[in-house]
Amino acid sequence: MEQEQTSRQAAVSQRVSIFDTTLRDGEQSPGCSMNTEEKVRLAHQLEQLRVDVIEAGFPIASSGDFEAVRAIARATKSSTIAALARAVKGDIDRAWEAIRETPRPRIHTFIATSDLHLKYKLKRTRAQVLQDAVQAVRHARSLCNDVEFSCEDASRSDIGFLCEIVEAAIDAGAAIINLPDTVGYSVPSEYGAMFRTVSERVPNIGKAVLSCHCHNDLGLAVANSLAALQNGARQVECTVNGIGERAGNASLEEVVMALKVRGESLQLHSGVATEEIFRTSRLLSSLTGMLVQRNKAIVGANAFAHEAGIHQDGVLKSPITYEIMTPQTVGIRHSVLVLGKHSGRHALKQRYAELGHQLTELELEQAYQRFTALADQKKEVFDEDLESLLEIGLNPSEERFHLVNIHVASGTNVRPTATVELQHLEENFVDSATGDGPVDAAFKAIERITGIEARLTEYSIKSVSLGHDAIGEVFIRIELDGLLFNGRSASTDIITGSVKAYLEALNRALASQRRKNGQQHESVSAKSAASEV
Ligand code: KIV
Ligand code: ZN
Repeated sequence: MEQEQTSRQAAVSQRVSIFDTTLRDGEQSPGCSMNTEEKVRLAHQLEQLRVDVIEAGFPIASSGDFEAVRAIARATKSSTIAALARAVKGDIDRAWEAIRETPRPRIHTFIATSDLHLKYKLKRTRAQVLQDAVQAVRHARSLCNDVEFSCEDASRSDIGFLCEIVEAAIDAGAAIINLPDTVGYSVPSEYGAMFRTVSERVPNIGKAVLSCHCHNDLGLAVANSLAALQNGARQVECTVNGIGERAGNASLEEVVMALKVRGESLQLHSGVATEEIFRTSRLLSSLTGMLVQRNKAIVGANAFAHEAGIHQDGVLKSPITYEIMTPQTVGIRHSVLVLGKHSGRHALKQRYAELGHQLTELELEQAYQRFTALADQKKEVFDEDLESLLEIGLNPSEERFHLVNIHVASGTNVRPTATVELQHLEENFVDSATGDGPVDAAFKAIERITGIEARLTEYSIKSVSLGHDAIGEVFIRIELDGLLFNGRSASTDIITGSVKAYLEALNRALASQRRKNGQQHESVSAKSAASEV
């Protein structure tokens, strides 16, 4: 029965082509530039994501852009690779030169069609622009079978002229017609109506695929894209994390997941491997340094996080109460129940169980009272805080490792070396190690002293003041026996700060282990390899 429904649905649901322009419209926005190697890495990931088209760049813009587009064209094989060109012969030749070696090349040529752009920017008449467009498309078609034509600022163009130029471009050989909302001015009803009118009025429209391309100046890029799709567009141009000129482009992950989650109502689907979405988003952020906001739909840190007690209780009973898609669909391992002042006993008990502590009703009640008191003072209560709540009364402070001294040697021709001295139960231990860098060497020296090999899963340094003597705030997360422990420290010396943060995380991990093993009074012995001072 279910299978029957799926195939009936598949028969009417139409495929939408996903045109990713992260490497062109996205990359040209402030703070998002990438070098060739980084662009090729992202292009490989976009192929894993199974986007239909990768717009690799604007080859005439610079020799760097040309090289990057050519490198992407050479390195990829499954997606169509598009290169952008103004409706100018030189641009089109350069674009073709960059993509000619890829199995599926596309030349994407454009010209502005709004009277506003014609008057102030191009200083050309409608007749001249129409002629430029036709010549450009014809020339592009003489080089490449797959040609896309874009009417820049289509949403502010005269609809009669728009239909005229679209018809001429299709006659000249364009197979894809893109009608951008270049300045993010449209609202969904208006943008959708433009697609409907073009579909109805242009006699040869059946020979081309209509494409939408929306900017997010009013925060409507995704809504406008969906309106276009509901009115006949079958290609959507978008970017990972929604990066792009000014407020960005329509976000790929939002469009794709709208098609996935609401596909039945839209009767549309894409071929994207959605479980690659999160990985792609993270890769882009790490390549550009441009992080997404916590509450960003689909890929933000809060997208699958619940804090309100009622929501947490619902999610624990059945995730569909408050989640419209599973985190796994987009490649996120699991949702998170953030523990804060709005959380309830159910979530607290669950988190303790995940940390390996099965609490009795009485223990839970005591922990909950301490938890609410702490949550009133702190925005978020982390795993190590929960461990400490159970530790209260055990006074484990003397069992901590304290930093006594650190010395590092590092430079261009020196193997980074660190010597670390730690105090533990009133004894001092010292050891040295080499590493990939001074911080790595210091962590290895600590590993030698403590005998504990924790996996470093997160490490970040953020400047919290200005100038050369700025204070760096270090955040560290380590994994030990499948559990995560955080450490933080602030220092003007980033190596000392890193070591202190690492020790804080390590001490928390050890406290947790002691509690679990019931060895509160038995100390963790420092490894014999470490020499006592
Ligand atoms: O926003 C826009 O109009 C564009 C075109 C070049 C397609 O990016
Ligand atoms: Zn654009």
